[in-house]
Amino acid sequence: MVEQTIRRDGGAFSSTSDDMEYQVGVIGCGEWGPNHIRNFNSIPGCRVRTCVDLREERRQAVSRLFRGLKTSGDVRAVLDDPKIHGVVVATPTATHFDIVRDALLAGKDVLCEKPLAPTADECAVLVDLAEERSRILMVGHVFLYNPGIRRLRESLLHDDCGRIYYVHAERTNLGPFRRDVSAVFDLASHDVSILLFLLAAMPTEVSARGECYLQPNVQDVAFLSIAFPNAVLANVHVSWLDPKKVRRLTVVGDRKMIAWDDLDATGPIRIYDKGVVRSSSYRDYGEFQLLAREGDVTIPRVAGAEPLKLQSEQFLRCVRERVLPESDGRFALNVVRVLEAAQRSIAQGGAPSAVAARPRATPRSSPPKPISVAERTER
Ligand SMILES: NC(=O)c1ccc[n+]([C@@H]2O[C@H](COP(=O)([O-])OP(=O)(O)OC[C@H]3O[C@@H](n4cnc5c(N)ncnc54)[C@H](O)[C@@H]3O)[C@@H](O)[C@H]2O)c1
Repeated sequence: MVEQTIRRDGGAFSSTSDDMEYQVGVIGCGEWGPNHIRNFNSIPGCRVRTCVDLREERRQAVSRLFRGLKTSGDVRAVLDDPKIHGVVVATPTATHFDIVRDALLAGKDVLCEKPLAPTADECAVLVDLAEERSRILMVGHVFLYNPGIRRLRESLLHDDCGRIYYVHAERTNLGPFRRDVSAVFDLASHDVSILLFLLAAMPTEVSARGECYLQPNVQDVAFLSIAFPNAVLANVHVSWLDPKKVRRLTVVGDRKMIAWDDLDATGPIRIYDKGVVRSSSYRDYGEFQLLAREGDVTIPRVAGAEPLKLQSEQFLRCVRERVLPESDGRFALNVVRVLEAAQRSIAQGGAPSAVAARPRATPRSSPPKPISVAERTER
């Protein structure tokens, strides 16, 4: 958790709210929204008060699933309700910008599903707005709260791998197919978020190939090659047009190698004490042979907590303590900067595309309010 505080006066809960509960509004109750409702309702001191969906059948479905839940077809039912302090946005990506902006303007703390918005420019506007209004803006990059990924990051922080050479990630399945965003924005947003989290660095450029087999202008499959500083290379393969569901990532270092497999029932992490040793050649002094070093494989114990629940808990802690979440708006903006570079590269037939600088702060017509985040540094 990033321990940068934001001003206390920026969003304390009302002490007169219903029974002192923290009340949440969920906008978008399609496939994913109900998971947010279930998780927030399961956390003591928190309750989902109202759900909004444009579709009547989805409103009826969540009413049947969650007793006592109010539903509406109008986002204002959440945004204008003074008893609702936190808003979860689980609508399609193309709608995120307008809904998140209106929620921040209405004074709500926001947890928006990934990716934050279709463009880095839009993300930057939302980041600036959240800071101006002293609101928490968290984005549902749920793999940052995945216990296996956190265990892997712990190993990297302990320098278990030594110098990291490269990372290889695969995320495939048959469906779900999206119409509003490509597999790059839908699926690779997860892997890019994991890479930024694990490597704690921004890449410099992306080369990517992708193809649209099912619908025009929506890539179903993509192969991304992402260059990080210090010659760290990352390769990401995403597809929703694949016979097998795979969620895997391997980090190869000069000391150890670590594999994460989210679907491995015996444990998501394998630490391979393997590497390469150089030994001098018996034939020719001064020459080296490269020999494989085979060591033990360790399977560390990883707690089986639900990542979405851990993410919900972090959101609640951040709104209570007014601290920034790990997947805050700036982090999410950085993810979208990388995804945009990938889409540009795909449009140029795989030519390398530089990750663009963070978009400039939004021009303001009136003087900005005091910034909400104290001593914030660019990450
Ligand atoms: N973190 C994850 O692992 C994960 C998994 C699935 C989806 N998601 C994200 O969640 C979001 C939603 O995905 P989904 O699969 O539930 O999509 P979905 O299409 O099944 O559901 C979206 C719902 O939003 C409703 N909606 C659309 N515009 C609206 C508006 N303006 N106001 C109110 N309701 C509106 C639709 O009627 C629909 O029911 C996407 O951003 C997606 O990327 C994240």
